[in-house]
Amino acid sequence: MQAKTPEQSKTTMTDMVLPSETNPLNNLFGGELLARMDRAASIAATRHSRHIVVTASVNHVAFNSAVPLGSVVTVEAKVSRAFKTSMEIYIDVWMEDRESGARTKANEAIYTFVAVDETGRPVTVPEVTPETDLEKERFAAALRRKQLSLLLAGKIKPNEASELKALFE
Ligand SMILES: CC(C)(COP(=O)(O)OP(=O)(O)OC[C@H]1O[C@@H](n2cnc3c(N)ncnc32)[C@H](O)[C@@H]1OP(=O)(O)O)[C@@H](O)C(=O)NCCC(=O)NCCS
Repeated sequence: MQAKTPEQSKTTMTDMVLPSETNPLNNLFGGELLARMDRAASIAATRHSRHIVVTASVNHVAFNSAVPLGSVVTVEAKVSRAFKTSMEIYIDVWMEDRESGARTKANEAIYTFVAVDETGRPVTVPEVTPETDLEKERFAAALRRKQLSLLLAGKIKPNEASELKALFE
């Protein structure tokens, strides 16, 4: 199976924040952003694997900036690393200034998707070949994040989390 670059799975979704999607402070509701990120990540994982994909875990979400009503929001998702059947998807969220068009980073998140067959059984996916410095950095840290996610889910034991243990040695 031929390896793919993160660029090959890149998925960009741009949309506006409407009144029905905001909280009482007139900022984008967190759950709405999670749904947008899940959708973009799902498409990126599908592009990488060319299989049905399911969300296995939301590993990290940082709501660093509020996104006001009327904002133009771009969600950009790329597969940062693939393991056997699972893929880490890194999502960057940008806001666009109405007048200058300049983009500022609003939020980011990391999701794990698993490729499955028609019966829901996990299937093997291609590897990822990172190209840019940022892609290489995200690729390198992905195994540590996978182990942390599996540890928190109770799917591995602390002594199996070799990458996490190495941080403290
Ligand atoms: C995700 C799912 C397919 C995993 O099935 P499973 O029987 O646990 O399969 P496995 O144990 O073989 O795990 C498959 C892969 O997922 C990874 N994985 C499972 N749970 C994980 C977690 N919490 N965090 C990170 N990776 C996880 C495993 O490490 C494995 O990765 P690898 O093959 O790349 O090494 C299964 O739990 C599922 O279908 N869940 C429901 C998904 C869904 O409906 N999502 C939408 C919710 S609304």
